[in-house]
Amino acid sequence: FNVPTPVNEPVKSYAPGSPERKELQAMLVELRSKQIDVPMYIGNEEVRTGNTRPMSPPHDHQHILGHFHEGDASHVEQAINAALGAKEAWESLAWEQRAAIFLKAADLISGPYRAKINAATMLGQSKNAMQAEIDAACEFIDFLRFNVKYMCEIYAQQPPVSGNGVWNRLEQRPLEGFVFALTPFNFTAIAGNLPTSAAMMGNTVVWKPAYTQIYSAQVLMEIFKEAGVPDGVINLVYVDGPTAGEVIFKHPDFSGIHFTGSTGVFQHIWKTVGENIKRYKSYPRIVGETGGKDFVLAHKSADAKAVAVGLVRGAFEYQGQKCSAASRAYIPSNLWEDVKKYMLEDLASMKMGGTEDFTNFINAVIDEKSFDKIAKYIENAKSTPGVEIIAGGNYNKSKGYFIEPTVILTQDPMYTTMCEEIFGPVLTIYVYHEEHFETVLDLVDQTSPYALTGAVFSQDRYAIELATQKLRNAAGNFYINDKPTGAVVGQQPFGGARASGTNDKAGSMINLLRWVSPRTIKETF
Ligand code: NAD
Ligand code: ALA
Repeated sequence: FNVPTPVNEPVKSYAPGSPERKELQAMLVELRSKQIDVPMYIGNEEVRTGNTRPMSPPHDHQHILGHFHEGDASHVEQAINAALGAKEAWESLAWEQRAAIFLKAADLISGPYRAKINAATMLGQSKNAMQAEIDAACEFIDFLRFNVKYMCEIYAQQPPVSGNGVWNRLEQRPLEGFVFALTPFNFTAIAGNLPTSAAMMGNTVVWKPAYTQIYSAQVLMEIFKEAGVPDGVINLVYVDGPTAGEVIFKHPDFSGIHFTGSTGVFQHIWKTVGENIKRYKSYPRIVGETGGKDFVLAHKSADAKAVAVGLVRGAFEYQGQKCSAASRAYIPSNLWEDVKKYMLEDLASMKMGGTEDFTNFINAVIDEKSFDKIAKYIENAKSTPGVEIIAGGNYNKSKGYFIEPTVILTQDPMYTTMCEEIFGPVLTIYVYHEEHFETVLDLVDQTSPYALTGAVFSQDRYAIELATQKLRNAAGNFYINDKPTGAVVGQQPFGGARASGTNDKAGSMINLLRWVSPRTIKETF
């Protein structure tokens, strides 16, 4: 077996005057100048219900980018039927043909669709050009190309031992039924990866994106179609989550869910699947990447400047609306004044505003619900004794959902913003006595139920080893002397445990193996 050896997609710079910047700017103007009409894609049909809902940039919520057609339970039924109808032909294809389709999708994004998917992500999810490039272009291209490599390795796995007169084989069958891909608003790459990784292994899929990500989801669907994904293999429906769940989780052919989103929703889904378990032909695969309360821990030996850079980039890129974003930090007293100085200098230089102006670093949070939730945490911090806001703290939703990067300092390591997922540009810092590193390790481990990402900064080998051991279960992605964000497909397989997910590492062979069900065949001659 042989597929092209994947190389991580190079990140374009979008420097002033560069051809990629000009192309992206032109695409932003083009997309803003028209209102698109977005159907659902079910089987070979574009479904328009007439029940339309507007889509707006989070940073400019008066502007209408277009409308999508909302469906209901009957459309989920239709999507399931389309997926089941397309199954036999799709799973009978040689895996190389499926691989070719997804490799072509990667090439389309790398080339002709790059500006469009990036612009749609910038306008629809309020990401700046670099953030869109890293998410919608590079990360998704990497998911597609590396997954094809892992898929090839799965099919090429060493067969079981055979003796004279006997041939033993292991056949990697797709799951029996359909897979449900339920995707979050925050990453275009994740929205693309969840349906395609299951489809790659021969499954057919019903895909329901978050309503706030439909603007880029429909571009992904356009790319899948152009790459040659056959009708019915990936069916895209716009139905509210509970309505979709009500149909999907009661269906006998439900064979698995590929989910990324909040812990609460995933736990609800797990319970619902359990309640319906007797309806299904097979035990469904439940794969979920969920919430986080990601930490940065500095040791007294750490480089203060490196810690400050890690905090600012880790906490405030993507407005903190990244599952891996740093949101609680433990800083030793000997470093605090320097870390604070560097951090405040960095924050003072950051501009906030719409994504169309490439000099803005901070953009808007996704919607009013997120805005209100984050603002509530900030207001609570303003009125809590022993808690101080040392940067930011202001917010305004008159034009877009803008919240300043906010740093909270607390004397209580169990203060709410140290424990709960906020999912916004809010970082809480606890300054500990520099000699109490070992005690703080216990705090880091036990403060939150999550275990997604975490970082330790230290120049002391013993402290690094101690943290690595004691925080073994506190993060699925653990960083030493780097920010806790920015995992690259093929380099740092991504996912967390505890309340952060089933840890089936996105973009890995571990993940792809969840979408097949092996059959052992013994043939006697
Ligand atoms: P969310 O849980 O609100 O929504 C995720 C999806 O589930 C959406 O499509 C939504 O419509 C749907 N949904 C919501 N309620 C439902 C219900 N009752 N039944 C069925 N479907 C339902 O998450 P979000 O706000 O879109 O994304 C942010 C969350 O995702 C954060 O908690 C973040 O940490 C998490 N996240 C985790 C990772 C990771 O890799 N661990 C990556 C990205 C985001
Ligand atoms: N790949 C993204 C990160 O690690 C989710 O930050």
